[in-house]
Amino acid sequence: MTNFSEAKEEVKKAADIVEVIGQYVELKKRGQNYVGLCPFHSERSPSFTVNQNKQIYHCFGCGKGGDVFTFWMEYHNLDFPQSLKDLAERYNIQLPQKRDLYADKKKKELKEQLFKINDLAGRYFHNILLKSADGKPGRDYFSRRHISQETISNFRLGYAVKRWDGLLNYLKSKNCFLDKAATAGLLILKNNKEYYDRFRGRIMFPIFDLNHHNIGFGGRILDDSLPKYINTPETPIYHKGYYLYGLDSAFENIRKRDLAIIVEGYMDMLVLRQHGISNVIATLGTALTSDQIRRLKGYTKDVVVLFDPDDAGRKAALKSFPLFLNEGISAKVVVLPQGEDPDSFVNKHGSDAFKKLLERAAPIFDFYLDQALANMDTGVDGQIKILSEVLPVFMQLEQGATRFLYVHRFAEKTGINEATVWEELKHQEGKRTNERDISQLKSRFSETQDPRKYGSDLQFINLLLHYPEKIDTFRNQEWELIVSDPEIITIIKVIMEKFPSEGNLDRVEEFLDSPAAKEQLRVILMSQPFYSEESVGQAVSEFEKKIAKVKISRSIRKASAQGDMEMLNRLIREKQDLDSNSKSVTKPKQDEKFLSN
Ligand code: CTP
Ligand code: MN
Repeated sequence: MTNFSEAKEEVKKAADIVEVIGQYVELKKRGQNYVGLCPFHSERSPSFTVNQNKQIYHCFGCGKGGDVFTFWMEYHNLDFPQSLKDLAERYNIQLPQKRDLYADKKKKELKEQLFKINDLAGRYFHNILLKSADGKPGRDYFSRRHISQETISNFRLGYAVKRWDGLLNYLKSKNCFLDKAATAGLLILKNNKEYYDRFRGRIMFPIFDLNHHNIGFGGRILDDSLPKYINTPETPIYHKGYYLYGLDSAFENIRKRDLAIIVEGYMDMLVLRQHGISNVIATLGTALTSDQIRRLKGYTKDVVVLFDPDDAGRKAALKSFPLFLNEGISAKVVVLPQGEDPDSFVNKHGSDAFKKLLERAAPIFDFYLDQALANMDTGVDGQIKILSEVLPVFMQLEQGATRFLYVHRFAEKTGINEATVWEELKHQEGKRTNERDISQLKSRFSETQDPRKYGSDLQFINLLLHYPEKIDTFRNQEWELIVSDPEIITIIKVIMEKFPSEGNLDRVEEFLDSPAAKEQLRVILMSQPFYSEESVGQAVSEFEKKIAKVKISRSIRKASAQGDMEMLNRLIREKQDLDSNSKSVTKPKQDEKFLSN
């Protein structure tokens, strides 16, 4: 392989975009495209579209899209060079050595360095736990908690010795850059000159991303002292609330069983796995986020969450309810007996008992209502309290049938007058101009923009893209005269300038800077050709006439301004001739369908 753009083309040829995206997003064939729920924004009906012929994707909901590289970068939160490397590896394509034409080398290098340092530290913690005399407290702890050797090695669990310089000395002996280890969150700099270990006297849980990079750690203290857990802080490779503990080793099973089980704790996940429940993941100490839910929905739409049967559990369930609903996921809740967490429950009662509990999972909102009603104060006070808890959640639900049903059910169960709930809801919503209002305003606004205004622009560019052999015909004509949409003008300019006859149009997007133009291009590429093979010739000549007419009108204006009557008469006759032999531009064969896209 001689250069990167060749390598890139190779990868593009080898990597099927449907296969790559299909690993992370559940895709269904629809017509010539594949569709699924967009991993980049909240939605309940699929507008995320992948086109196998063109090897591009586009979300008609949020406008994100591009090729297989764009997807990889966006989904895994990586830069281009790393994505090229990942995909090249997957498809066994060799990359050129050394030369790195793609910018942002520094950032890429830093991330790779941090992965490496975490990996090194992870192995160090793991080896101490397995082999060192210093690791005994960790070994004892895990055996007390019934964690097997196999689990320890599968999840590369470890132990951080109770010293200020355990990892520090090890990293020094490996000539590791200590400032980088601090950036990874493993060391802390004291008084601007000395480093010390962040994790001391703790059992260690390494956290991996979907590509099995070690991105961070959780560390639990062995006794009752506080804080019980310390986690890697935000770093260039670790973002709290984005990852799920164990997803890298569970996602295939989640897809296979079409169910994900979400628990709160590291220990809960490990113990359940040890009991053969392979589709379980953990949230890593934060309330469930919509980012995490979005990751999951590519594998399943059935989720069971384990919340504690207490005040905190009820509130956490309520908070997650609109997140799930707005992603089109039907989440259920399992409640464990008072005082148990999943870990203690399976250890006591075994996995069959746990599976029985799963079967009795209740929809999330029912769980919330039951909990809330059981703890509700009597009388008006209780009603006001529960209403104020639930209103902000209702406001997050999309308007329509779902919201209606939940409000109805809520009123019925709490005995609060339904009209009152709606009135309160309306009142609360009137008070804020939130993002939702703005986005609704936006969509209303764009609905009033007549898409047919650009009808002719779209027809013209559709012709060029689907019949590139016609490009030459227009290259030396003043085609700008018949196109008014600035994005489309930009795209056509690129086509005219960069793609001499028979050029391959697949790479047009690379020459576009503006995201709006890129988006427009994808929409057009995903559309069907307007013109059939039979009608394209006539369409070309009509666009040529259209250009000629605009030119004549321009000259007419000029001639009349100059008072050149002879010229004026000639031009008007010419225009009449043109008008009389072209009554109308050929009707595109499926403009309805195209415009509704
Ligand atoms: N957690 C955290 N920081 C804390 C406390 C908790 O990050 N100070 C996160 C951890 O991911 C933990 C989860 O929240 O696993 C649940 O906390 P908790 O129920 O207190 O701990 P358990 O996982 O049950 O841990 P253990 O069984 O060892 O007590
Ligand atoms: Mn526990």
